[in-house]
Amino acid sequence: MTVLLLVGIVQVATGVQFEVKDGKTNLTCILADLSINFTVPYSNASKQELAKFALPSDAVTNISKSSCGEEDATAPVLLIEFGSSHSLSIRFGRTNTRYQVADLVMSYNLSDKNFFPGSSENGTKTVSTNNTAVSAENGTMYKCINPHVIRMENVTATFHDIKLEAYLKQSNFSQKVSTCSEDVTPTSAPVPTTAPAPVPTTTPAPVPLPEPPAVQYTVNGSHGPCLMVKTGLQMNITYVTKDGKNASYVFNIDSKGVTVEGTCSNTTASLSLSSGSTLLTFNFTQNSSLDVFYLESVAISTDVNGTVFAEHNNTLNYMQTNAHKSFRCNSKQTLQITDRFTVNTYHLQVQAFNLDGNKFLPAVECSLDENGMLVPIVVGAALAGLILIVLIAYLIGRKRSHAGYQTI
Ligand SMILES: *[C@@H]1O[C@H](CO)[C@@H](O)[C@H](O)[C@H]1NC(C)=O
Ligand SMILES: *[C@@H]1O[C@H](CO)[C@@H](O)[C@H](O)[C@H]1NC(C)=O
Ligand SMILES: *[C@@H]1O[C@H](CO)[C@@H](O)[C@H](O)[C@H]1NC(C)=O
Ligand SMILES: *[C@@H]1O[C@H](CO)[C@@H](O)[C@H](O)[C@H]1NC(C)=O
Ligand SMILES: *[C@@H]1O[C@H](CO)[C@@H](O)[C@H](O)[C@H]1NC(C)=O
Ligand SMILES: *[C@@H]1O[C@H](CO)[C@@H](O)[C@H](O)[C@H]1NC(C)=O
Ligand SMILES: *[C@@H]1O[C@H](CO)[C@@H](O)[C@H](O)[C@H]1NC(C)=O
Ligand SMILES: *[C@@H]1O[C@H](CO)[C@@H](O)[C@H](O)[C@H]1NC(C)=O
Ligand SMILES: *[C@@H]1O[C@H](CO)[C@@H](O)[C@H](O)[C@H]1NC(C)=O
Ligand SMILES: *[C@@H]1O[C@H](CO)[C@@H](O)[C@H](O)[C@H]1NC(C)=O
Ligand SMILES: *[C@@H]1O[C@H](CO)[C@@H](O)[C@H](O)[C@H]1NC(C)=O
Ligand SMILES: *[C@@H]1O[C@H](CO)[C@@H](O)[C@H](O)[C@H]1NC(C)=O
Repeated sequence: MTVLLLVGIVQVATGVQFEVKDGKTNLTCILADLSINFTVPYSNASKQELAKFALPSDAVTNISKSSCGEEDATAPVLLIEFGSSHSLSIRFGRTNTRYQVADLVMSYNLSDKNFFPGSSENGTKTVSTNNTAVSAENGTMYKCINPHVIRMENVTATFHDIKLEAYLKQSNFSQKVSTCSEDVTPTSAPVPTTAPAPVPTTTPAPVPLPEPPAVQYTVNGSHGPCLMVKTGLQMNITYVTKDGKNASYVFNIDSKGVTVEGTCSNTTASLSLSSGSTLLTFNFTQNSSLDVFYLESVAISTDVNGTVFAEHNNTLNYMQTNAHKSFRCNSKQTLQITDRFTVNTYHLQVQAFNLDGNKFLPAVECSLDENGMLVPIVVGAALAGLILIVLIAYLIGRKRSHAGYQTI
């Protein structure tokens, strides 16, 4: 009686435990102790709802669909079932020195009124990702106490208090632990022993990030490439810390592990980059009456210390460029998207819609670049000329729109 009760208490405290054994040898190959919070969008009549639920404690291992795999021919899989016909499949893979969660597949049943009250759809949906960022050294247990967000299309799975190990050689977790990056506290720089102590009133300047690598992203339309962007991307997010202060979270979009997607219509060219918990979308719009394209909207959603940060702006007008030219900005360019979110671009060149196959058309240079090359007088003259042109264009535009529409 007491033993059972204790087991119950331990289960509540440590999440749900799963084990996969080899059918023939009866040896354990996967052990998992999981706590997962899911958020799943669904529609209720005309509204969008967000279902939030945790992996329930009565979740079980589907023994017949889980497997230890065969050497390196098939991978070990843990298939978890919970609630009414929901499942989560965790498939592993390995390299010489590490093993990782190769993909995560979730199926959820919208008919389950416990999780999806008032859902206007029945039936099962399946989402997946092969970008989990869960990886550990050979022969160690993967451990992650802090939230680790994994996005499967528009479903998020927040893993927390995780212990996980595959390719086990014994029936319990390894003693050695691989800690996830969320749990690693940054080690402070060693204090120089000879120099006098610095004045401790100001916080030390954060170590500047290296410049992000310039990567070329291409979106294909029905007639070949319809959007090409070559750039290094750096995100700068302002978030509120636990003690109510504003802090900046600056990170680069890496060249590796990024899933690139996009679509084009006649007037919109959309580029989506996703990596781990980060999803970033840039939409360019073509205005055929002005014969220009420009960046009209940017949206981000990412995980900042376990909290979802999501902001967007659909009324931007950046990098407006003649439709038959590309836009280039070698210098660092800062695009203010919202009060709390800016994007820094480096070595950027972009063209939307009228591409010549895989090539950029001749470039219009951003003013930041021009400033570096021309003498101030020329810049001044050019600016004066520009202002004049803009003014004339504006006046003509106003006159036209007056003729065409009633202004409000
Ligand atoms: C596998 O091991 C468990 C205990 O670890 C035992 O109860 C079970 O009978 C074994 N099964 C086979 C097929 O050997
Ligand atoms: C990792 O596992 C593979 C497969 O068992 C093995 O060949 C390799 O030697 C291991 N590496 C280390 C560092 O343990
Ligand atoms: C779903 O919609 C119905 C009616 O349209 C409403 O009664 C119900 O409360 C909604 N459920 C949720 C979770 O909002
Ligand atoms: C979903 O299934 C339930 C029970 O079978 C049924 O009452 C309901 O009308 C179905 N809803 C939709 C949108 O098909
Ligand atoms: C991950 O999935 C995407 C889309 O399903 C696929 O294109 C890509 O090759 C996969 N990457 C790996 C490493 O399996
Ligand atoms: C998970 O959900 C529970 C209850 O819904 C909440 O108390 C907990 O803070 C959540 N944890 C994370 C890491 O989101
Ligand atoms: C993701 O959400 C969008 C709109 O919210 C929906 O149309 C789409 O079907 C969802 N995708 C999946 C795989 O559920
Ligand atoms: C990030 O944004 C903050 C607030 O706007 C600003 O002070 C900081 O200099 C920015 N950092 C970078 C690297 O752009
Ligand atoms: C976020 O995590 C960083 C370290 O990764 C820490 O310095 C910072 O205080 C955390 N912020 C919050 C709000 O917990
Ligand atoms: C898009 O452009 C093509 C070619 O110019 C045209 O045939 C088609 O009707 C346009 N589609 C829309 C939705 O405007
Ligand atoms: C960008 O364009 C795509 C495709 O047209 C659309 O689904 C998405 O909602 C747009 N995003 C924003 C932030 O406007
Ligand atoms: C979107 O960007 C425009 C132009 O920079 C700005 O005026 C507007 O305030 C922004 N909207 C939001 C929600 O930040």
